[in-house]
Amino acid sequence: MISVTDVCLKYPNAKTDTIQGVSFDVKQGEIFGFLGPSGAGKSTLQKILTGVLREYRGSARALDIEVRNRKNDYYEKIGVDFEFPNFYGKFTALQNLKYFSSLYAAGTSDPAPLLERVGLRDDANKRVSNYSKGMKMRLGFVRCLLHNPELLFLDEPTSGLDPANARIIKDMVLEQKTAGKTIILTTHNMHDAEELCDRVAFIVDGKIKTIDTPRALRESGTDTRVEYSFTEKGEESRHACLLAELGAETAFRAALDMGTLKSVHSQEKTLEDVFITLTGRSLS
Ligand SMILES: Nc1ncnc2c1ncn2[C@@H]1O[C@H](COP(=O)(O)OP(=O)(O)OP(=O)(O)O)[C@@H](O)[C@H]1O
Ligand SMILES: [Mg+2]
Repeated sequence: MISVTDVCLKYPNAKTDTIQGVSFDVKQGEIFGFLGPSGAGKSTLQKILTGVLREYRGSARALDIEVRNRKNDYYEKIGVDFEFPNFYGKFTALQNLKYFSSLYAAGTSDPAPLLERVGLRDDANKRVSNYSKGMKMRLGFVRCLLHNPELLFLDEPTSGLDPANARIIKDMVLEQKTAGKTIILTTHNMHDAEELCDRVAFIVDGKIKTIDTPRALRESGTDTRVEYSFTEKGEESRHACLLAELGAETAFRAALDMGTLKSVHSQEKTLEDVFITLTGRSLS
């Protein structure tokens, strides 16, 4: 569905390449995530793939075309949820969606149920200039689904949303996957990456450091640590070891036998722990 080989991009006024030799493939029906801190190049990569930035080097193919050669019909087949969605402020949400629907040659969905789904039914006839950032984000998400595209690009789709609204958007993203759509999304939220993505690319300073499933990434590298404590002479004694070595811990076994164990906590690595280990950078 998408095949990117050795893509580099330099913004006109920049001294160095912002995207530095990026390669990856995305299969049909997959949710592929770019996870990385602010400034890593996630939105820039999205803009290359959506045909906005066409002055890249290397090859970026999507839907069987080299995207720098895209024609306007490319936008009939892809849906783009921008990081900072733009609307006509004097129009209501419904008027905006009706206008954007009119730009597509093929049929589009009725916007009203989509607005209802993202909690904007009662605000559908309000001018977008009176919308909050989170409302615009939800409206932007709805807009990218109007023409039922087979390939979706979502740039931080849950950023700025409260947990309940983020949940709705994530459920809708997963429904798109179930419907067979291919989805590329960017995030700096490890929980979103883990929950939504089949595979994740760790991106830092315009380079992809690794690509794998969230699970394989979490299980990679060093073993899980365990912290345990037991009561000894009336006081709590705390210890730590690797999970694989817990059975051989004399102090742990003794406490288990004597019934003096107070707590056992395994410390599974988070995706962010792995990100820090592999990239030397944190996500925030
Ligand atoms: N139009 C532009 N001209 C020059 N440099 C730019 C332009 N847009 C972005 N950049 C720079 O390119 C780098 C990558 O930016 P990008 O927006 O792709 O990061 P990001 O990973 O999406 O970050 P965030 O998580 O904050 O959205 C940053 O250093 C940014 O300052
Ligand atoms: Mg961005």
